Amino acid sequence: MKNKWMIPFSFGAGILVTLLVPIILLALGAINMGADVTPGLIEKTLAPWALDRSVERRAPKEKNPYAGEPAAIATGLDHYRENCVICHGAPDVAGAELSKGINPPAPSLGEGGSDTPDGELFWVIKHGIRMTAMPAFGPTHSDEEIWKLVAFIHHLPALTAPERESLRKRSPDGAQSTATTAKR
Ligand code: HEC
Repeated sequence: MKNKWMIPFSFGAGILVTLLVPIILLALGAINMGADVTPGLIEKTLAPWALDRSVERRAPKEKNPYAGEPAAIATGLDHYRENCVICHGAPDVAGAELSKGINPPAPSLGEGGSDTPDGELFWVIKHGIRMTAMPAFGPTHSDEEIWKLVAFIHHLPALTAPERESLRKRSPDGAQSTATTAKR
């Protein structure tokens, strides 16, 4: 007679090994957490997919109440200059030096959010993305201000020369910002 415990035992041992191997790898410090390391396969494929699913599920379905309104776009530009351009830059406007060392990188929003629904842009700006450099702006900005930022993101591909100039002024990567700091 075969031992009746054989199957449950193998099953349990299988689960234990499956759990133990990753735990041992983590305990040994096998994963290099440096921001200057190219991410592995799981981080490159599974994580962005899970993020998309998570944002899709939580994002509000409503349309942007300020879409295309010039006054809202102007307010959005002010917030973008103060809070976003350092990491994301803008068309023909470089991000700050720190933007070169972010992993995963801050994507260019110059396509105006392209086909991302407004509710998803809103959600990401309000709540941020944990364990990336993307901060939550909900603690410091009203929903109204965030919708205005979304309106501005759509305007990014059509920036005028004075708007670009305005964005460059606060991007703290050039001589201009050194001069401002020195004056304080
Ligand atoms: C300190 C750097 C940093 C700042 C400041 C920052 N972001 Fe981000 N942002 C990121 C990073 C990094 C990502 C990508 C995260 C990822 O890949 O999961 C991101 C992602 C996003 C996305 C999602 C883009 C996409 O294609 O899915 C949007 C929209 C966005 N940011 C808007 C903004 C806005 C608007 C502001 C200013 C109010 C801002 N961000 C400020 C770093 C930043």
